[in-house]
Amino acid sequence: MPVVDVHTHMYPPAYMELLRNRTSVPYVKSFPDDPSAGNRLVILPAEDTESTSRGRPIGPEYFEVSEKLEFMRRHGIDISIISLANPWLDWLPSDTAAETARQVNDDVERMCTDNEGKLFAFGTLPLSAPVKEVIEEVERLAGLPHHRGIVMGTSGLGSGLDDPALDPIYATMEKHEQLVFLHPHYGLPTSAYGERASDYGHVLPLALGFPLETTIAVTRMLLSGVFDRFPRLNVLLAHSGGTLPFLAGRIESCIAHDAHLKKLGKLEGRRDVWDVLKNNIYLDAVIYSEVGLKAAIDASGVGRLMFGTDHPFFPPLDEGETEWLSVKMNSKAVESALGYDRKADAVMGGNACRILRLPS
Ligand code: URA
Ligand code: ZN
Repeated sequence: MPVVDVHTHMYPPAYMELLRNRTSVPYVKSFPDDPSAGNRLVILPAEDTESTSRGRPIGPEYFEVSEKLEFMRRHGIDISIISLANPWLDWLPSDTAAETARQVNDDVERMCTDNEGKLFAFGTLPLSAPVKEVIEEVERLAGLPHHRGIVMGTSGLGSGLDDPALDPIYATMEKHEQLVFLHPHYGLPTSAYGERASDYGHVLPLALGFPLETTIAVTRMLLSGVFDRFPRLNVLLAHSGGTLPFLAGRIESCIAHDAHLKKLGKLEGRRDVWDVLKNNIYLDAVIYSEVGLKAAIDASGVGRLMFGTDHPFFPPLDEGETEWLSVKMNSKAVESALGYDRKADAVMGGNACRILRLPS
C-alpha cells in the first residue's frame, strides 16, 4: 500500500514571483538589519512585526519540485497531493485573480505531469474575483488530470464560509465532486494572544489560532445549513479538524439549547455535527499525537483519516537532521493509535487512494 501525503505545500514559480515583488503580507524579502537571516517568508498577520517572529526562512524546499521529491524519498512517501500554501490567492485584486489562478494551477498541473504517479494536486481559486470567474475555475480544475480537489482558506468571498453568496460555488463543487481542503491562515485577532505574544515565537498563532480558526469556520458552515443544502459536499479539514472532534459534543449541545435557533425553527430537521463528521468530513492526520488522532478517528471513522506532513513547514531546527521530527510525530501517532495493521495502512495511504482516486 503506498504512503500518501495529503497535506503538503508548495509555492509554484508564478506565485513566488508575486511574493518577491511585494512589501506587505504576504511577501518574501531579506532584511538589511539582519542579513544573516537570508530571505524570509512573511505570510501571517501576526508575524509581520520587528520581532523574533518576523516570518520564517524560505529556501528551495518551498518552490523546487526536486526538494519535494527528495523529502518524499527520505520519508518513504510514495505520492504527494500538493497544495498552494496560505494565503493562497485571497489577497489578489479582483481583476487579476482569475488569470493568476489559471497560471498557478497550470504551473502545478505541469509539475504533476512531469512526475507522473508521484504528484497530484489540490487547486486554488480566485476568491476575490466575481463569482462567475470562481465557478469557471472550479469547472476547469475538475478537468485537469492531476487535480483532486481545491485548497481553500476560511475567508470565502471575504465574509467567511457561511456566506450565502458562496452557494453557487458550493453547488459547482458538489456537482463535480471536488473535495475542499479547508486550511487555516488568519488565526485569531492578535489581541487574543496578549501583549507578550511576540516573546513566544509562532507558537500561539500556529498551535491555537490555526485550529480554532478551522473549528469556527466549519461550525459556521454547519450553523448556516451549508451541509443541509449541499449534502454531498465533501470537506477535508486540516490538522484533524482543528478542535472539531474534541468539541463536537459541546457544539451539538449549544445548538440544542439555543432558544434563538429554536424560535427561528432552525432546530427542526437539521443534520447534526456527528452526521456531518461521518458523511461530509474527511480529516488529515496532522495532529502530532495519539490522543488527538484517536479523537479524530472516533469522530469521523478510521476510513476518513489521511496522513499528512505539512511540509515544508515545521522543518527541523538543527542542521543535519535528515528525518523531520514533525513527520515522525505524525507517523508515530498513527502507529500508536492503530498499531501495524490494515487500519494504519489505510490512514497512511489506502484511504487517500480510495477517496482521491490515486493509483494504488
Ligand atoms: N504555517 C503556515 O503558515 N502554514 C502552514 O500550512 C503551516 C504552518
Ligand atoms: Zn498546511
